[in-house]
Amino acid sequence: MKALVHDQAVPHMLRLGDAPAPTPGPSQALIDVAAFSFNFGEVAFRVPDLPTGTIPGWDAAGTVVVPAADGSGPPAGSRVVTFGWGGAWAEQRAVDTAELALVPDTLDLGATAALPVAAVTALQAIRRLGDIAGRRVLVTGASGGVGRFAVQLAHLAGAEVVASVGSPARGAGLAELGASEVILGPAALRGRVFGAIDNVGGQQLADAYLRLETGGTVVAVGKASKQPTLIDFEEARIRVDRARIETFVIGTPLGGELAELVGLAERGTLDLAIGWRGDWTDYLRAADALVSRRVPGKAVLDVRRAD
Ligand SMILES: NC(=O)c1ccc[n+]([C@@H]2O[C@H](COP(=O)([O-])OP(=O)(O)OC[C@H]3O[C@@H](n4cnc5c(N)ncnc54)[C@H](OP(=O)(O)O)[C@@H]3O)[C@@H](O)[C@H]2O)c1
Repeated sequence: MKALVHDQAVPHMLRLGDAPAPTPGPSQALIDVAAFSFNFGEVAFRVPDLPTGTIPGWDAAGTVVVPAADGSGPPAGSRVVTFGWGGAWAEQRAVDTAELALVPDTLDLGATAALPVAAVTALQAIRRLGDIAGRRVLVTGASGGVGRFAVQLAHLAGAEVVASVGSPARGAGLAELGASEVILGPAALRGRVFGAIDNVGGQQLADAYLRLETGGTVVAVGKASKQPTLIDFEEARIRVDRARIETFVIGTPLGGELAELVGLAERGTLDLAIGWRGDWTDYLRAADALVSRRVPGKAVLDVRRAD
């Protein structure tokens, strides 16, 4: 089959080549991939010393061709959106049945490839903040994949959402997704917030932390800035009271949460926030756009377009 394979020697360490079709384990279904998405982490932070020929990729949507041998999961022909720690960027993937959700006919199947890592991360991170109804919540990197879902999900949970972006242009569309305010970096925040979802790291994490209400939390999701964070805790002792920073790693299996998100999308409550969509042979263009902050939301690459 055709696949995007890891190759240290080429741009983005990715080459469209040939690879053996996956062999599913007993609790895995075999999927014909319709589309997959790129996440910043797997494009910008993929370790160079993976074996050449490894197929990366976390998120893919497609159709079940062979159901799991252990009887779990949906039958052949089912439309599904899937997650796994590799193998998504190919014509076929094998996936654990605990890591997929059914996609109703009313949704564009390929578009749901935007959901797994970015939207589940946003959902889990927002839930870490507890009850945010009526509270003020900051989202940094709000222009990106996790950010656009976090803005929407915090708004749906009843929060007053402050979206932080790198430039006015990057803030386009965020008010429509539920942001009450769009600011250029957390240093520009007026007043304090109950919680923050930080996708950028570096100085922005420190700035968000220093603007928490008493007992507030920053969930430190990402480091898109690639910068480490320096916090002067002596200064922090004066400026914030019992505030905390929580590290975050996406929790799996995530099939249940993925199904919730598909449900929201089906009801028209959640926008899939696709900012780049094209054929997967354009993978270099998509990867360039993503790492250079030109994708407003998710990048989705079609392997097979629906007829
Ligand atoms: N912990 C976990 O389990 C987990 C799960 C998912 C994602 N993540 C991490 O969370 C972060 C966000 O992921 P994502 O998929 O939402 O990424 P994304 O779509 O690329 O969005 C990242 C946002 O960060 C901002 N940014 C600031 N400085 C940047 C820089 N130097 N380079 C690139 N972007 C920069 C950009 O907004 P502006 O252009 O508006 O500044 C961009 O929209 C990444 O670091 C990712 O690795 C972690």
